[in-house]
Amino acid sequence: MNRRIMVAGNWKMYKTIDQAVALAKAVAAGPARQGLDVLLCPNFVCLEAVVRAVAGSHVQVGGQNLHWQDEGAFTAEISGPMLRSVGASHVIIGHSERRQFFGETEKTVRLRLAAALRHGLKPIVCVGETQAERESGQTDDVLASQLAGGLAGLSAAEMVKVTLAYEPVWAIGTGLTASDEQAQQVHAFIRAWLAARFDNQVANSCGILYGGSVKPANAAGLLRQKDIDGALVGGASLDADSFLGIIAAV
Ligand code: PGA
Repeated sequence: MNRRIMVAGNWKMYKTIDQAVALAKAVAAGPARQGLDVLLCPNFVCLEAVVRAVAGSHVQVGGQNLHWQDEGAFTAEISGPMLRSVGASHVIIGHSERRQFFGETEKTVRLRLAAALRHGLKPIVCVGETQAERESGQTDDVLASQLAGGLAGLSAAEMVKVTLAYEPVWAIGTGLTASDEQAQQVHAFIRAWLAARFDNQVANSCGILYGGSVKPANAAGLLRQKDIDGALVGGASLDADSFLGIIAAV
């Protein structure tokens, strides 16, 4: 099974327009590789400028969230049609910071996922356990319930359009990374869950990214794992050299 590899940068609430354009241009000047998708997810304010900055290059652009309605009186929210109109191809859904600080639940993940699919945006759905959940042996249960809720009622044809990202909450922005073995173990668990919920073909075609303190120094080991299909990178995506260093490790 030849799954594509993706290296995605989640810029979170960083970068003004000038800074974002400079970083995007530097990433777009990096090498394009067969079978590799490079994705930048800037804040909403910078989306249009980043789309322009990478136009004609191999780099794709995504949003960090979307609302499930197409429009309405939802102050400060952004919808699927808006992301499409700015030229975004992807969208991150259910990042742990959304779950932790903004009340994201499995139900809202599922609603956002439906909106992304409805508007032809490629969703990246994030799951992951906290340190306390890992230490009390609940990692598999937590992931299974995030997957069951977030992907509830999805058809196989829809599921193959979804990329998953396993991001252990304890590894995000902490400098702690899951070891290659820990990450591979969870990715294999997620793939087995997909095989049981859908079938082997769906399980084998879905991309599953790892995220949590990925850097040039640890990327090669993680990306060598058989069930890890790329990286969702936060901190190290904010600097062109370190992000290109991760891409070079693929
Ligand atoms: P990090 O963030 O690379 O800074 O740990 C990853 C993420 O939150 O997607």
